Amino acid sequence: MKVRKAVIPAAGLGTRFLPITKAVPKELLPLMDRAAIQYVVEEAAAAGIEQVIIVTSRGKEAIADYFDRHLELEGLLAAKGDTERLSQVKHLSEMVELTYVRQPEQLGLGHAILCASAAVGDEPFAVMLPDDIIMAEKGAIAQLLEVFDRYEASIIAVQEVHGPEIQSYGVIVPEPVSEGIFRVLGTVEKPALADAPSNLGIVGRYVLTPEIFDTLTRVTPGAIGEIQLTDGLALLLQSQLMYALRLQGVRYDVGNPLGLLKASVELALQREGIGPAFMEFLEQLVE
Ligand code: G1P
Repeated sequence: MKVRKAVIPAAGLGTRFLPITKAVPKELLPLMDRAAIQYVVEEAAAAGIEQVIIVTSRGKEAIADYFDRHLELEGLLAAKGDTERLSQVKHLSEMVELTYVRQPEQLGLGHAILCASAAVGDEPFAVMLPDDIIMAEKGAIAQLLEVFDRYEASIIAVQEVHGPEIQSYGVIVPEPVSEGIFRVLGTVEKPALADAPSNLGIVGRYVLTPEIFDTLTRVTPGAIGEIQLTDGLALLLQSQLMYALRLQGVRYDVGNPLGLLKASVELALQREGIGPAFMEFLEQLVE
């Protein structure tokens, strides 16, 4: 069955980025000249996703403005003959169909996904956490969709995490199936290092069956007092098979200042017209 929809939860307060997030949604912080969330929507579009549902909250209306048409600006750029900028601006509204739903209270990631249930309906869908930017030859969600086609079951992305870092992740109990693919026997959110069932941490990309919605209504607040998606996955496992894929690519956690900076440096070095000059600057800086 084709996966047509993706949910991007973007309702958080962005406290790790205060004070800037007092006025600017975290998802619009720039990676070079683009909002961080644009890379995630581009990843969805490249994987053939047709509709993206963004879960927002009070004060984050600028996300919808970012992706909306801006006819006055388009007219100005067209009149100036600035076709390159015009196509960049138009591209934002042309990638996928965008829908917005609101999460009225910050009750956790699982609850944010539940807010999108009516917009998703009764079909498998992708979940893409915008804090995770994955630079890979083949997009992360495209990698997961390939596995979904094979198993027609929920698939979650994982990567190896070293040492105490694992305590910030959802962690799976894996049973190896084939190279890079695991059957998921259990999931636990943010375990203490000593209790972590493996070193495979969940990265923010999932393809889920619609039964997750019913499951999430039964989840009670877990780690940090929130309704966790990982706890929903653990419940779903009681009635369905689930798989995990070890993602290819480099993941940046752009939900914190150091991660955003690292991703910016990597993208700047790759960018034509900027990369070589930026490299020269970095070399001088570390001399
Ligand atoms: C969320 C999920 C966690 C996952 C992580 C990946 O946690 O709850 O299971 O491992 O994203 O980035 P957060 O980083 O929002 O605390």
